[in-house]
Parts: sequence; structure tokens; C-alpha cells
Amino acid sequence: MQILNSQKENRHMDKKSKIFVAGHTGLVGSAITRELEAQGYTNLILKQHKELDLMDRLAVSDFFQKEKPEFVFLAAAKVGGIMANQTYPADFIYQNLMIESNVIHESYRSKVKKLLFLGSSCIYPKLASQPIKEESLLTGLLEETNKPYAIAKIAGIVMCESYNRQYGTNFISAMPTNIYGTHDNFDPETAHVIPALIKKFHDAKQAGIKSVTLWGTGTPRREFLFVDDLASACVFLMDVYDGKEAINIGTGEDIRIEELAELIKKEVGFKGDIKWDESIPDGTPQKILDVSRIHTLGWKHKISPEEGIKKTYVWYLKNMK
Ligand SMILES: NC(=O)c1ccc[n+]([C@@H]2O[C@H](COP(=O)([O-])OP(=O)(O)OC[C@H]3O[C@@H](n4cnc5c(N)ncnc54)[C@H](OP(=O)(O)O)[C@@H]3O)[C@@H](O)[C@H]2O)c1
Repeated sequence: MQILNSQKENRHMDKKSKIFVAGHTGLVGSAITRELEAQGYTNLILKQHKELDLMDRLAVSDFFQKEKPEFVFLAAAKVGGIMANQTYPADFIYQNLMIESNVIHESYRSKVKKLLFLGSSCIYPKLASQPIKEESLLTGLLEETNKPYAIAKIAGIVMCESYNRQYGTNFISAMPTNIYGTHDNFDPETAHVIPALIKKFHDAKQAGIKSVTLWGTGTPRREFLFVDDLASACVFLMDVYDGKEAINIGTGEDIRIEELAELIKKEVGFKGDIKWDESIPDGTPQKILDVSRIHTLGWKHKISPEEGIKKTYVWYLKNMK
């Protein structure tokens, strides 16, 4: 059965709109929830993973038919660092495809007015020219280590485009750069670089160790965005962006990994030395998103790396147990 949506009218959230934040306990979803609450949105639908498994098609269908959310932030996903991606490639592709298919399809069936799908900068080709423009999607080969995850995310973008084209839905996709912040994952097996370094320096400080060894040469340049900035960008895009193409979210500024390590070392108060294990490959020398499209729309990040790292470490100290 074809259900034609006409969500283009009346597409703006108002403070009483029914908003489903999928993945609200995660790093990104919890920040979007805080941002919506801070802006006075009062009608949020939040379901823990154990209450609603988004891979379960029937449960997702029942949920959407019963709750009828008007707006959806899709921040639920199977996410992890290089090690996790290499160890569990099947889980990464299967779980992400299932979550996206169920949430996007049921959003269409229940006439959701607008959905924002969160992808990731790893969808872009390994050798994309820097800074990476949205147009470089599907123009080259992907990084091998997280290919299953990237393919699932690309499928999510193409699903949003296809539903818009065939059914007139208003589903947009946002591609954030590397994210860090409060509620991050500090497990050394699966953590991304900033929480991993915070934990490493903190543990070394506590144990009185004289030096820590980090992977690679420290020379690659990477871009990082504090999660509260990402949340403000997502709410902003939900309000103003109806474009067909995915849109990048980042700072447009990068930092050398060794500079980043020094910043974290200083914030944590580790007094020892940093050594670099140059036998571990660095990966690409630079990775940064072109954020001119979102800047032109009127959004810019606010939180500097110093401030973001400080907030993240304070949160870690309060919550590490
Ligand atoms: N972190 C980054 O650096 C980064 C960068 C760019 C883009 N993103 C994107 O942002 C989104 C969120 O990432 P994140 O870092 O916030 O991940 P996260 O902290 O791991 O959070 C993922 C959320 O999804 C939930 N979830 C996972 N599988 C589920 C399922 N089957 N049913 C219901 N809920 C499920 C998790 O609940 P449980 O924990 O209870 O399983 C959690 O609430 C992802 O799409 C990711 O691609 C993240």
C-alpha cells in the first residue's frame, strides 16, 4: 500500500510536538535530548533499548502506530572504534541496517513530519579530497576497516532520499565529524580517541607511571566536535534544513593528534612523558569536513577543544564508577 505523505507543510517543531529521540541513552541521543529539553520541548518520547529493540520490526511498527511521533531524531546505532569494527563487522552491518530500515520505514508509514538520520564522516571515500565536501559521497573506495558500518550508513542516506522521492517524505541526513563529550564511552576496547586518551592519562596519573605510549607518530590531523554542539546542530537542522543531500556537521578546524594529546595530558594533570609507537600505522594524514553548507545556513560550533576536554574530564571523574 502506498501512503503519500504531505509532511512538507507544517514541518516545524513546536514546543508541544511529539518528538522521538531514538538512542536517547547514547552519547549523541542524550545530548539531543538535553538540547531539546533546554529549548523547552516538553513532549519527548524516550524508549530504552530494553523496552524497544529497534531491530524488531513488529515492535517498531507497533510503537510507531501507537505513539505516532511527529518528529524523529535517529541517533540509535551500533557504534564503535576501529577494534570493534574489525572484530564485529557482521554486527555492525546487520544491526545498523535493521535499525535504519525499521525506523525509516515506520516513520513513513505513520506519517512522521520530519526525520533526521545521523550518519558519520566514515561514509566518505578513503581518498576524498580535504576538506571533504558532501558531494564526494560515493565517488571512491571506502576505508576497509569500517566498510560494513559505512555501507550501512550510506544505505540509511539513500533510504531517506528514496522515501523522499517516492513518497514525498521529509527525511534528512546529517554527517557529523568525530564526536566526543559527556556520556562518552571510556572502555579501552571500544572507545574513540579522546575518551581513550583521557582514561589512559588518568590511569597513568593514578598509578604514578612515568610515561604513556600512544599509537603512531602523532602527526595526523583530525577534526573533533563536542557533543553539545552536535546536538544544537541537529535541532537547528530539524528546523531549517530540507535539502536532498546529506549535510556535514563539524567545526571545519582540525588539530594534530600530538597537540590533542598534550591538551588532554594537561587537563588530566599527568606529569609524565608521552612516547609515540611509530610501528603502528597512522592512517590518513588529514581528515576534516567541509562545513560551508551548514555555516551558510547560519550554524557554527561554540565549544573549543580546551573547553570540551575539560567538560568531558569533569564528567568522567563524576561518572567513572
Ligand atoms: N560517536 C561519534 O564519534 C559519532 C560520530 C559521527 C556520527 N555518529 C553517529 O551518531 C549516532 C549515535 O552515536 P553515539 O556515539 O551516540 O552511539 P552510542 O553512544 O553507542 O549510542 C547508541 C544508542 O543507540 C541505542 N541502540 C543501539 N542498538 C539499539 C537497538 N537495537 N534498539 C534500540 N536502541 C539501540 C543504544 O542503546 P544501548 O546502549 O542501551 O544499546 C544507545 O542509546 C550514530 O548513528 C553514529 O553513527 C557518532
